[in-house]
Amino acid sequence: MENHLILETQELSKSYENQKNVLNGINFSIQTGEVVVIVGPSGCGKSTFLRCLNMLEPIDAGVIRLDGKEIHQDFKKAHLIREKVGMVFQSYELFPHRTVLDNIILAPIKVQKRKKEDVTKEAVALLTRVGLFEKKSAYPRQLSGGQKQRVAIVRALIMHPEILLLDEITAALDPEMVREVLQVVLQLAKEGMTMIIVTHEMGFAKAVADRVLFLDQGQVVEEAAPFEFFTYPKSERAKQFLNTFHYEAIEI
Ligand SMILES: Nc1ncnc2c1ncn2[C@@H]1O[C@H](COP(=O)(O)OP(=O)(O)O)[C@@H](O)[C@H]1O
Ligand SMILES: [Mg+2]
Repeated sequence: MENHLILETQELSKSYENQKNVLNGINFSIQTGEVVVIVGPSGCGKSTFLRCLNMLEPIDAGVIRLDGKEIHQDFKKAHLIREKVGMVFQSYELFPHRTVLDNIILAPIKVQKRKKEDVTKEAVALLTRVGLFEKKSAYPRQLSGGQKQRVAIVRALIMHPEILLLDEITAALDPEMVREVLQVVLQLAKEGMTMIIVTHEMGFAKAVADRVLFLDQGQVVEEAAPFEFFTYPKSERAKQFLNTFHYEAIEI
């Protein structure tokens, strides 16, 4: 199938009660199969942007369209959007009292009304793919951070999202676990998963991105192919950000 526009925002703006203009007129679009990496200083609005895209936060102004249809701010229907727009967080958000398998199959059974047998089969296949087959009956506390994050990715994938949002999913991990998680994401990218990725792993960003967006103070300051952005940043703000950035030499 031809790639096509899947998600776009026009003049998206958002304030919190005590923090105005966190997002300030964001125009953004992404095609199916595309991987967009968002970078920018802490507090510039990256998480807020992702959270608006899957209705974890209401927006104040502007438009978000998914598959050409406006996402209205009707929070009773938020679950329908979140099925299509999956999200993985820095903090895993697994249920501590459920096994790995139960964490994964819960939503597809409850929300999507799929058969337990089918979903379990798929969950086992996905766990095998991310190297966690033997952990299916373990509880989250028995897993390392990297393993928990791979479970969280599987839990998002089993919903068959049209697009996946990843918000600093390796930021809480010990360095030796960052790689195992990023490898899974790289594999997804190769398979054509549409993703918006917020990360501070610049080596990974270069490797995985089709396009990089540099956000500062709630605005898109720069948008470029990864090589161009990292080698020839145009704006002073991007140059400064890249200069002060602590590059971790993680080999992907
Ligand atoms: N729930 C919230 N309530 C009030 N202010 C918030 C909330 N979440 C984030 N902010 C503020 O909005 C700004 C952008 O935050 P965030 O989107 O988390 O940035 P980033 O992910 O780029 O670090 C920051 O100034 C932050 O303090
Ligand atoms: Mg954030």
